[in-house]
Amino acid sequence: MSEEISETEETSDHHNAAASAGSLPFSEVREWLEKAKEEFEEKWRNPQPCTATLDDFDRLKTLGTGSFGRVMLVQHKSTKEYYAMKILDKQKVVKLKQVEHTLNEKKILHAINFPFLVTLKYHFKDNSNLYMVLEYIPGGEMFSHLRKTGRFSEPHSRFYAAQIVLVFEYLHYLDLIYRDLKPENLLIDSQGYIKVTDFGFAKRVKGRTWTLCGTPEYLAPEIILSKGYNKAVDWWALGVLVFEMAAGYPPFFADQPIQIYEKIVSGKVRFPSHFSNDLKDLLRNLLQVDLTKRYGNLKNGVNDIKSHKWFSTTDWIAIFQKKDQAPLRPNVRHAGDSRYFEPVPDDEETFNISVDDPFGKYFEEF
Ligand code: ADE
Repeated sequence: MSEEISETEETSDHHNAAASAGSLPFSEVREWLEKAKEEFEEKWRNPQPCTATLDDFDRLKTLGTGSFGRVMLVQHKSTKEYYAMKILDKQKVVKLKQVEHTLNEKKILHAINFPFLVTLKYHFKDNSNLYMVLEYIPGGEMFSHLRKTGRFSEPHSRFYAAQIVLVFEYLHYLDLIYRDLKPENLLIDSQGYIKVTDFGFAKRVKGRTWTLCGTPEYLAPEIILSKGYNKAVDWWALGVLVFEMAAGYPPFFADQPIQIYEKIVSGKVRFPSHFSNDLKDLLRNLLQVDLTKRYGNLKNGVNDIKSHKWFSTTDWIAIFQKKDQAPLRPNVRHAGDSRYFEPVPDDEETFNISVDDPFGKYFEEF
C-alpha cells in the first residue's frame, strides 16, 4: 500500500457551507444517535487534562511504527492490564505540520464511544512525546489477515463492511469525518469483530473541508481534484475497502500515486468475474464519482446502503450487539498475546526524554 499523505489543515474560515440534507434514519436508530451525540458533546466540551504518567507502564514491545511515532504493547504496573500506547514525537509532529491533526485525534478519541471504535484509556505528555494509551486489540490488523488468505468471501467481507457502515453512521452523525479507512487501520478483536484505530486524520467538520490527506488508493476523486469535500469521502473509501476485501486487491492500483489518481478520477472500475451482481451494484453506487449520485450522500443517507440488496442478510441490530458469529476468530491465548503483530525493532531513542520542551507551546491543549 502507498504511504499516507497529509497537508496542513486549512485555517481559512469557509466551513459554513450547508450541511448535507440527509433524511432522518429510522426512529429508534435516530433516538440512539441523538443520545450518543449528547454524550459526545458533553465530553467534547470538557477535555480531561492528563490521566497517567509514563512510569505507570512497563513497555513490552513495538507493535507498529509511523512517520512521527510508534505504537507499543504496554502493561499497567499496578492493574496488570495490557494497552496499546501510541507515542508521538513532538518535534516530528511539528516538522511534519501535523500539530492540528494530532490535537484533533486526542480530542475526538476522548469523546467517542462506539463498539467498533478503539477507546482511549489514558493520555499524557512529557518534554519529548505525546502519549495516547488505547485498549489493546490482540487479533492484529485486518491487513495481515487479508494478505495471508488472499481475499475474503462475500459473507466475510459483508460482516466487516456492516461494522464500518455502523461506524460511519455514528461518526457522521457527530459531524466527524474519518478520512483514513484502510485495512491497516482495522484491528480484529478477540471475538473477531472490528475496532477502528488511528484517528490521526479524523476531523469535526460541519459542511466542507479542503485538506489533502489520506492514503492514495483510498482517496475519493473530489479530494484528488482539490475540491471542497464532505463525509461522502468516507463512503467512497468504504467502496474501496469492500472491493479490496472481496477481490484481494484494491480497485485502483499502480506503481506511482499519480497513476492511481488518474484511475480514480476516470470513473471506470473493473470487477473480478467472481463478484456477485449485488456486490457490483453496491460498489458502483459507492465508487460513484458524481457526488449527487453516491450512496451515503443522498437524501436517505446511510439507509440507501443499509437497505441495499447486498446487505439483505445482515441483521444490523445483531451486528451492533456483537451477537453474530464472526467468520474469523483470532487464536489469542491470553490478554497480552502479540502473535498477530509482526516483529518491529524497538527503539531505545524513543525513551531518551529531553530535559527541555521547545515544542511544548504547540501542544498546550493536549
Ligand atoms: N489499539 C489501538 N491501536 C492498536 C494497535 N495498533 N495495535 C493493537 N491494539 C491497538
